[in-house]
Amino acid sequence: MEEENKSARKNPIENQILVIFGSNGDLSKRKLMPAVFQLYLDNLLPENFVVIGAGSQEKNEETNRIDVAKSMLEFAKYGVESHPEKLESFLQHIYYQKVNNQQEEDFGLLKDYIDSLSKILNIPRNIIYYFSIPPFLYEVVAANLIKFGLNNEDDGWKRIIVEKPFGYSYDTAVDLDKKLRSGFNEDQIYRIDHYLGKETVQNIMVTRFSNGFFEPIWNRKYVDRIEITASEKIGVGSRGGYYDTSGAMRDMIQNHLLQVLAVVAMEPPAIFDSESIRNESVKVLQSLRPIKPSEISQNVVRGQYIETLVDDVIQKGYRQEKDVAANSKTETFIALRLFVDNWRWGDVPFYIRTGKQLPEHVTEVVIHLKPAPHQLFKQRCVAQSTNMIILRISPDAGVAVDFGMKIPGAGYKVQNVNMAFHYSDLTQSKISEAYERLLLDCMIGDSTLYARADAVKASWKFVDPIIHAWKTNPEIPLYFYECNTWGPKEANTLFNNKELKWRAPFKKFKSE
Ligand code: BG6
Repeated sequence: MEEENKSARKNPIENQILVIFGSNGDLSKRKLMPAVFQLYLDNLLPENFVVIGAGSQEKNEETNRIDVAKSMLEFAKYGVESHPEKLESFLQHIYYQKVNNQQEEDFGLLKDYIDSLSKILNIPRNIIYYFSIPPFLYEVVAANLIKFGLNNEDDGWKRIIVEKPFGYSYDTAVDLDKKLRSGFNEDQIYRIDHYLGKETVQNIMVTRFSNGFFEPIWNRKYVDRIEITASEKIGVGSRGGYYDTSGAMRDMIQNHLLQVLAVVAMEPPAIFDSESIRNESVKVLQSLRPIKPSEISQNVVRGQYIETLVDDVIQKGYRQEKDVAANSKTETFIALRLFVDNWRWGDVPFYIRTGKQLPEHVTEVVIHLKPAPHQLFKQRCVAQSTNMIILRISPDAGVAVDFGMKIPGAGYKVQNVNMAFHYSDLTQSKISEAYERLLLDCMIGDSTLYARADAVKASWKFVDPIIHAWKTNPEIPLYFYECNTWGPKEANTLFNNKELKWRAPFKKFKSE
């Protein structure tokens, strides 16, 4: 399996250094370090590599290793339990340098530290700088790296990984890009969107482009509508401070869900390489039909969860969450209808929905196909015969095709059934965490699954006017919904056809 993974890579992996800014933060502890450890267990890292934690806390290498070990035990549990001896050897690759991101001279010290490690350990200065820090620090850190020549590629390649959100609006994204580009080329900037790292999102491309029977029906002639749902059971928890300045539009739609939409709707690239794939996906985002300010209420429904009694337990309302303004109008739910103005999709509506405090944690794409032109068995349907292709991203990842079938016995009664593939049936392979895949891709210089600047800008261009209208037009309602429901009932008004409603996904996907 590891050998297969290695041979599937197009670029060799070189000895290198990973510097994580914000190494004591949540993302680093929960996702990044466990992902690096898993890559280590899978023998996918180069012979000679080091991870340098760059955080504001005063620590030495030893105390940092103890901290890393602690977070591994908590968040990389499975890996540590099955390979306890490996943790010790992994920790020998972990180093630490205190860096206050706003203190210029700390970057001089970081440079000296990198230089000395590189000499002692004989590691080339191929470096990834991971910005696992609050977005307002991206520019500062980039400027400090540039100032001390830490972007210089004379002695090895340099790459930066920038977390979302990339900017706060179209203008700020353009501005941030300009600042990063003053010291890094586009091919050195990796804008991470963990949805693109999900195995199941990549499989959308394979499902579409390696099978002869999906692609011919993947267009306006056969597709009635497409639904994309990313629902979460939890509320904003301890992230109220961040979320209240972001809301579901900036947190989920502008990045994750528009990227998923682009993968679902893009044209087949002529060749499978980073530029060709990203060229096709950006065209989708550039073809999104702008929603006019006067049409926002008919096309976008926003909601916010309120205090609710669920199973005898009180669930806090959004406005009662820590660090959230008591009169906040931030949306925790969005349902929207949009169109991709091109030949393939014509007037096919795309419905996107995301929210917190909904009944299930589910992400899925549902391609609803048009009904057969003549409904011969209409009177005999037990359940309305519907044709759907369900691409389940998580949980119970897989692909299902729903169709009507004759119920055995007398007469011609029709009911919906499905044929489903579940990833869990593939006993040979495990689904890697998105961060494992994305980190490894950056290490080998493959940016296919990272968002390009033009794609990020095109997404902002689409969402900006909606956010602006919400801010400036008090007439646009914010609907309140109870926890453990599928959001405000007004979300169903987005469908052209009054008989339609959002699909209620099950934990295990199957026919309704
Ligand atoms: C993050 C958002 O990017 O994605 C979170 O900031 C959200 O608010 C999360 O919960 C959802 O990711 P996943 O992989 O659990 O669907």
